[in-house]
Amino acid sequence: MNKIRAAITGVNGYVPDYVLTNKELETMVDTTDEWITTRTGIKERRILKGEDQGTSVLGIGAVKGLLEKTGTKAEEIDLLICATTTPDMAFPATANLIANEVGAVNAFNYDIQAACSGFIYALTTGSQFIETGKYKKVVIVGADKMSSIIDYTDRTTCIIFGDGGGAVLLEPTEEEFGIMDAKLHSDGSGAQHLHMKAGGSRRPASHETVDRREHFVYQEGSAVFKFAVTNMADVSAQVMERNGLTGDDIAFLVPHQANKRIIDATARRMEIGDEKVMLNIHKYGNTTSGTIPLCLWNYENQLKKGDNLILAAFGGGFTWGALWVKWAYDPA
Ligand code: UT7
Repeated sequence: MNKIRAAITGVNGYVPDYVLTNKELETMVDTTDEWITTRTGIKERRILKGEDQGTSVLGIGAVKGLLEKTGTKAEEIDLLICATTTPDMAFPATANLIANEVGAVNAFNYDIQAACSGFIYALTTGSQFIETGKYKKVVIVGADKMSSIIDYTDRTTCIIFGDGGGAVLLEPTEEEFGIMDAKLHSDGSGAQHLHMKAGGSRRPASHETVDRREHFVYQEGSAVFKFAVTNMADVSAQVMERNGLTGDDIAFLVPHQANKRIIDATARRMEIGDEKVMLNIHKYGNTTSGTIPLCLWNYENQLKKGDNLILAAFGGGFTWGALWVKWAYDPA
């Protein structure tokens, strides 16, 4: 019997309607469209507005469309994993809220928190359940309502992040498609450069933490940039090397969308041209766990069966990694 692999058999994305442009940010903080565009590549991002609208809204939107597109009944889902850094609540897991709303009554569900690498961590984890042969339909969601933890008076962070999410369906195949290899890394010493100070068990919410604006993303941008640019490029090159892949073999790099300059450096290291790089940072900004599935969704109609993709991410933790994925289907 051939090895069972986890193939991605469908993808869908969901972004909220409200568009926050660089122009609007110019009215909120001391910044310019020109600075944001040249330093990050971002022109606009989406924001989820309204009372009681959490990350699950983004996940539910993505999964509902995914089930429809792939002709999957919600009851058939065995497992739903949600990668998120902005869960609706500290508990229960947002994956449970999504599964309940879409009717995935036979699934077990849990969240994975690996900041901007969340989706590739969840995809790697979910693929193991398929590879055992025991599970047939696994849904991996990556979604974040970053606007819920962003300080819109801090120009160094508020220009970067946006809200959005995506989902993929994993199913078993005995052919040479699917998640072929993964290399994941973590380094907890990076926590000092990128974290949220309060709201966890170490420093629970209080009047003081709110007054000190500690419930927002704290990021030392240039320190994080240095780690991101080397580690995302290195791990992508390492996954290619150990599988005998060159730039010519790669159809697309699917990079986490944190900064266009980090993406460019990764593509250069992989020796691939700009036409092989999936990009949506200009329209969605950094949606944390959402960036990679949103890219796959945006480029789905350009992907062919057998295409070699490198998925790569770097984020808070620090966490980083790269996956080699062989695309399993042609455009509809
Ligand atoms: O998603 C996972 C992890 N996160 C990342 O990968 C993000 C990595 N970091 C970055 O993408 C970049 O560091 C930023 C986009 C956050 C910042 O860009 P930078 O080129 O590293 O700028 P910087 O922090 O070195 O700041 C350069 C200057 C500073 O002014 P001075 O001190 O030189 O006078 C900042 O105050 O730019 C200033 N600045 C701004 N100016 C206009 C910072 N933010 C802004 C802004 N508008 N929004």
